[in-house]
Amino acid sequence: MVTALYRRYRPETFAELIGQSQVTDPLRTALRTDRVGHAYLFSGPRGCGKTTSARILARCLNCAEGPTDTPCGACASCIELARDGGGSLDVVEIDAASHNGVDDARDLRERAAFAPARDRYKIFILDEAHMVTTQGFNALLKLVEEPPEHVKFIFATTEPEKVIGTIRSRTHHYPFRLVPPAQMLDYVQQLCTAEGIEVEGGVLPLVVRAGGGSVRDTLSLLDQLIAGSEGNTVLYERAVALLGYTHGALLDEIVDALAAADAPGVFTGVDRVVQTGQDPRRFVEDLLERLRDLIVVAATRDGASAVLRGVPADEIERMAHQASAYGAVELSRAADVVNAALTEMTGATSPRLHLELMAARLLVPSSDDSERGALARVERLERRIGIEGEAPAPASAAPAPRPVEAVEQRREAPRLETPAPPPAAVPAAVPSAPAAASAAPGTVTLQQIRDAWPEVLEVVQGIKRGSWMVVYTSTARAFEGDVLTLGFASENDVQSFRQAQGAGESVSEHLRRAILQVLGVRVKFIARVEGAAAAAPAQAVEERREAPRLDTTAERKSGEAPAVPKPATTGWNVTPIPDAASAPADDEAPPADDEVLPPDDADAPPSDEEPPAPAAPTPAAASAPARSASGGAPASGRARYGEAVVREVLKASFIEEVQLNPRDRPVRLVDESGAATSGSEA
Ligand SMILES: Nc1ncnc2c1ncn2[C@@H]1O[C@H](COP(=O)(O)OP(=O)(O)OP(=O)(O)O)[C@@H](O)[C@H]1O
Ligand SMILES: [Mg+2]
Ligand SMILES: [Zn+2]
Repeated sequence: MVTALYRRYRPETFAELIGQSQVTDPLRTALRTDRVGHAYLFSGPRGCGKTTSARILARCLNCAEGPTDTPCGACASCIELARDGGGSLDVVEIDAASHNGVDDARDLRERAAFAPARDRYKIFILDEAHMVTTQGFNALLKLVEEPPEHVKFIFATTEPEKVIGTIRSRTHHYPFRLVPPAQMLDYVQQLCTAEGIEVEGGVLPLVVRAGGGSVRDTLSLLDQLIAGSEGNTVLYERAVALLGYTHGALLDEIVDALAAADAPGVFTGVDRVVQTGQDPRRFVEDLLERLRDLIVVAATRDGASAVLRGVPADEIERMAHQASAYGAVELSRAADVVNAALTEMTGATSPRLHLELMAARLLVPSSDDSERGALARVERLERRIGIEGEAPAPASAAPAPRPVEAVEQRREAPRLETPAPPPAAVPAAVPSAPAAASAAPGTVTLQQIRDAWPEVLEVVQGIKRGSWMVVYTSTARAFEGDVLTLGFASENDVQSFRQAQGAGESVSEHLRRAILQVLGVRVKFIARVEGAAAAAPAQAVEERREAPRLDTTAERKSGEAPAVPKPATTGWNVTPIPDAASAPADDEAPPADDEVLPPDDADAPPSDEEPPAPAAPTPAAASAPARSASGGAPASGRARYGEAVVREVLKASFIEEVQLNPRDRPVRLVDESGAATSGSEA
């Protein structure tokens, strides 16, 4: 026969109390500075330390060394008022539940008249004070208002509003709170160590959750688990069964099935919940709790363990996968549905039916035509197909592979139309590749990859933070077939990107998985270093913006552009001229599925830094990144853009370029005879 855990561990000093510093701190200060009032009211939920605190306060007040905030523990009063002391004559604990009438109040009044037998004060602790009748309180009113010097009152109650206002206003009111899970978890862990009990992972968080913030409830549950355990080990299985929670494995199974929209899996799981005799309502609560955890994990990522205390790391990892399989919108929508079901199930005659209907609702987002439901559907589609680019382009400009460029062109369109008939200008800029003509399911363009890049990085971060740190610096440079060319800042990054770290555990594999998840395509990689060329993209954009305008000038002046480019001899950096030779090298051997391709050395970094000399379309200059940087014409076009137009079509060279109002920008040109011509665009 052992006494209950909560009795054996009842705190004897304020320092031992947990989670009530809002009460203990000011009380201890008052004790230290000798500013103790004559009546106290301790209120708060059950089992969080009111009675205990009342006893500690009495002990502090009557300690021979006192009044003190830390009772000495050695004097007669301290010993009598200790956990297993016999009680002191001068501290009267009245159970107001059974002594609540006027007679009891009168009796108390008489007792208060006598001086303390030995100690400093005569202290009355009225526990469960809300049970005192109004008449009882009224009979006490006078005494509580102006008690003799040697009398102190401590009321303790769970329902302070039932203590009549006139009494309340004569006391110092200290509200106790439920103990936060983190502190509670630490506390029970400490107790288990002190008791020499081993507890399987995941048990204590369950106990803490079941205790609902009440220390006594929590300790009672733990006590019961310990009592029912063989030897000195509390098993997870027993704890889940006894506490009536859904087993973590079953919960995982159902959550996984829900995330994958696997209807048979979900209903099998639900059936198992019912067959094991679990209360459906309890299960729905657990599911809601799990969804909340997933939301927390998705939101906090690496910080999740700080918020979800006591949850083992591997479980957090598992939850991170579940969260990313769900998606943020879907998660929050699911939580809404489950929460609504929980409310509906209150008092329902057939909770099982409600449970199954809830599962159905979770599985079919289309049944929910709220905005959130629609968003969730979009999210699912996006994950499967990849993100559609811009809204459909005007009839003349068929969907281009790089939506941004398409937009750029569209913006120029009105102006284009005046100098040249659109059919002449646009087809040159529109790709001929049929694959790019429509974003059919499974087709993803480089621009889509770039647009989705932040999201991809986020998923990588969810998989492994180390991998995220590597791919964070990379840029998608080209996407051909299923080969994605990535630019990295340093050779080091490329190395770490390629390095395998065990089966299927390389950074590239993580990135591949993330892209598959976000865009729905399985890619192969070419990784290259691009160091100094990192500044290129901005310039490339600049060029691209100019391109269509100059292009039309070309079309206007000479109709068909000459096919053979002449070597340019200018002091200017020139962009290689897009040419037939720059068409995607379709015959390039496709890279093996699971490896990162070595960068082809001929594939120089984007071309802005290239020497100006022979700009003939050699394959080297026509590499994929070069094309994307020059932002120029699509593969098969023979368009001449930018300064290429000036050099080749007009056979001129640049002297200077002056940035003016972009609408009115004079360009001074020198033709081959050396005569300067000055043109200004309309
Ligand atoms: N803040 C706390 N820190 C440590 N242990 C606590 C705390 N609160 C309660 N306990 C434990 O719970 C037991 C019950 O506490 P106590 O009797 O003070 O609760 P109470 O607030 O008076 O509850 P009730 O309203 O049900 O009377 C104590 O013996 C102690 O073991
Ligand atoms: Mg109590
Ligand atoms: Zn003492």
